[in-house]
Amino acid sequence: MKAAFIEQTGAPDVIVVGDIPDPVPGPGEVLIQVHAVAVNPIDTYVRSGAIVFETPQPYILGCDAAGVVVAIGDGVHHCHVGDRVWCTNQGLLGRQGTFAEKIAVAEEWCFPLPDAVSYADGAAAGLVAVTAHLGLFREARLQAGETILVIGGSGGVGSMVVQMAKLAGATVIATAGSEAKCQRVRELGADVVINYNDESIEEVVRESAPKGVNVFWETRREPDFDLAVELMAGRGRMILMAGRDARPVFPVGPFYVKECSLHGFVMFKATPVEMRSAADDINHWLAKGTLRANVSITLPLDQVAEAHRMQEASTLESSGELAGKIVLTLE
Ligand SMILES: NC(=O)c1ccc[n+]([C@@H]2O[C@H](COP(=O)([O-])OP(=O)(O)OC[C@H]3O[C@@H](n4cnc5c(N)ncnc54)[C@H](OP(=O)(O)O)[C@@H]3O)[C@@H](O)[C@H]2O)c1
Repeated sequence: MKAAFIEQTGAPDVIVVGDIPDPVPGPGEVLIQVHAVAVNPIDTYVRSGAIVFETPQPYILGCDAAGVVVAIGDGVHHCHVGDRVWCTNQGLLGRQGTFAEKIAVAEEWCFPLPDAVSYADGAAAGLVAVTAHLGLFREARLQAGETILVIGGSGGVGSMVVQMAKLAGATVIATAGSEAKCQRVRELGADVVINYNDESIEEVVRESAPKGVNVFWETRREPDFDLAVELMAGRGRMILMAGRDARPVFPVGPFYVKECSLHGFVMFKATPVEMRSAADDINHWLAKGTLRANVSITLPLDQVAEAHRMQEASTLESSGELAGKIVLTLE
């Protein structure tokens, strides 16, 4: 079968698109014929060697996929041959990745793909939707009527956070880096959108939420704690989920006197039960059309190296036109 894999870490040109043997589903696993996969920043960190995981050899890239179940291993109870499914959390913690025509995935990481949802949208929603759900509801416990500030509202995670926060009844303020990206974030439902290249985040938030924001969702890799603590309301919750190497200054006094809290998490450590609970809501919203995958670019699998370059330009350098997800198709 065709797969996109690496045998060593390095720049995007270490990625090989070539033939490897089909996987065989083991006990508790399903074999998926993959139709679409999506790129995430973490794929590029594993490929480059910036994050080191034990990986199978060769290591197939990718965390997210959507496709059709074509075989099941012993002890599979909920998935059946012919089911349309999406999966996430692959390619991590020693598991093989998803960028291949066929993948064997433990049933616990597979979720039904609603009939009305395309394979591309199912793959694109995966990791970022679960991340948004965990952060908003398990960590920040966002309530209807609260206000959230999303730094990076046009990105893969941010665009899910914006939509889910609106579904939860919150007022959403979000940032984006160009007028076109701001327009996209408005279309996703944000109440106030700040073009941080033209406007001061601090000034606009002070005007829009004079009492402060209840949740500050930081997607940048260099979190600004001074800004966050300044802009949060009393008992504000800050979500941190990016920036492994960051060592920023932290305003201890203002933080605890305001009774704020800091919530760091990585989605790949969520239990299968936590992930299924998130997936149930995500599927409900996707099926109703109230949550939309934010697909920015669609390419064939053969262009995976170019996709990694684009993802890095967006996430690491804040450059390029990417405003959401890159989907790779295998059809
Ligand atoms: N902890 C977890 O479980 C978890 C899960 C998923 C992702 N992550 C991490 O979270 C981060 C975001 O992931 P993603 O998938 O959303 O990436 P992404 O799609 O590349 O989005 C990142 C967004 O951040 C914005 N941005 C970049 N530099 C900025 C700056 N200096 N100021 C303001 N905004 C800036 C960009 O939007 P503009 O172009 O509009 O500025 C970009 O769209 C990545 O570092 C990723 O590794 C962590």
